Amino acid sequence: MTDLSNSVSIRDLSLSFGAVTVLQNLDLDIKDGEFLVLLGSSGCGKSTLLNCIAGLLEPTDGQIFIKDKNVTWEEPKDRGIGMVFQSYALYPQMTVEKNLSFGLRVAGMPKEEIAKRIARASNILQIEPLLQRKPAALSGGQRQRVAIGRALVRDVDVFLFDEPLSNLDAKLRSELRVEIKRLHQSLKNTMIYVTHDQIEALTLADRIAIMKSGVIQQLDDPITIYNRPKNKFVAGFIGSPSMNFLTGELADEGGRTVFRTNGTSFSLAGYEATETLPPGRKVVLGVRPEHIKVDGDLAGEEAHDAIVDIEEPMGADNLIWLKLAGHTISVRIGGARRYAVGAKVRLGFDMTMASLFDAETEDRI
Ligand SMILES: Nc1ncnc2c1ncn2[C@@H]1O[C@H](COP(=O)(O)OP(=O)(O)O)[C@@H](O)[C@H]1O
Ligand SMILES: [Mg+2]
Repeated sequence: MTDLSNSVSIRDLSLSFGAVTVLQNLDLDIKDGEFLVLLGSSGCGKSTLLNCIAGLLEPTDGQIFIKDKNVTWEEPKDRGIGMVFQSYALYPQMTVEKNLSFGLRVAGMPKEEIAKRIARASNILQIEPLLQRKPAALSGGQRQRVAIGRALVRDVDVFLFDEPLSNLDAKLRSELRVEIKRLHQSLKNTMIYVTHDQIEALTLADRIAIMKSGVIQQLDDPITIYNRPKNKFVAGFIGSPSMNFLTGELADEGGRTVFRTNGTSFSLAGYEATETLPPGRKVVLGVRPEHIKVDGDLAGEEAHDAIVDIEEPMGADNLIWLKLAGHTISVRIGGARRYAVGAKVRLGFDMTMASLFDAETEDRI
């Protein structure tokens, strides 16, 4: 039933709160040592799924295996998991050291072993100077480190993180993100990490499971998700600014297939279609801002006139918004390249990096 190389297997999992079905017949296999990110907007069912794995919620149907053991009905403490929440969930009256040791003391672990584990965890997380402080005397980032430490001392097979960085300010968030990645690289435990933040997903994940309304839309490595999104939802969810979407239709022009929108035709040469592209089909062409060449970048390929509408210089990058064939599109260029509003430029789409979606189903074609 389960694969030996899988650390966590979810089979046909359904969960309803009364009449509201949040998860339905969900299957997911997470490999041993994998960093899997569950990504989706608020309310899509990420925490519900994680809480089922943790044993904090009882599924309506289906099974959960951890290390090939059916844990569907096991208590959270018997599942070999450690969980880290957005809210830290530390005991306010206990010192950091007591917070770290609490679960181990309750489990009756010998003192020396507890001391050894706390020393190791606090060294990894660099919280040794904080051991005698109480949570109120810690910054958000330090509290979250302690919360991670509490999972670390338990020596679990699987770490579960539920939006652990969401309460931190932007700078701390990116610092702790790197630390979590380093932690995974050194521990090599299986980690399941819930977030609504696409940057966290792209930077941390071995694979991303992107969810919408309780359904996994695509399960792939970050580069595949980014470059070959399976549908328009995935394409639009990942990437900032969003992929440009142009609605139009396929047409045949002298034997070659083109994408036509508002009377302008774009050659699809170089596009790797997953199925045949019949003329007349209504489609949406998706192109990321960095996959559009401007003026001097063009090397003889097909190009179109566009007018600069707005410029957003961002230091390393410059984002320009242009009017092209009745659409407003964004293009990412080097930070040193500047354009005046109203300037006329030539644009060429890199069709090898583009995406075509059926206008009706919104699936990649
Ligand atoms: N205890 C509950 N009772 C009823 N509905 C719930 C409960 N917990 C969550 N939900 C609903 O289930 C859906 C998924 O919630 P959740 O898994 O927390 O989403 P996410 O973590 O992706 O933001 C939401 O629509 C939420 O309102
Ligand atoms: Mg949640």
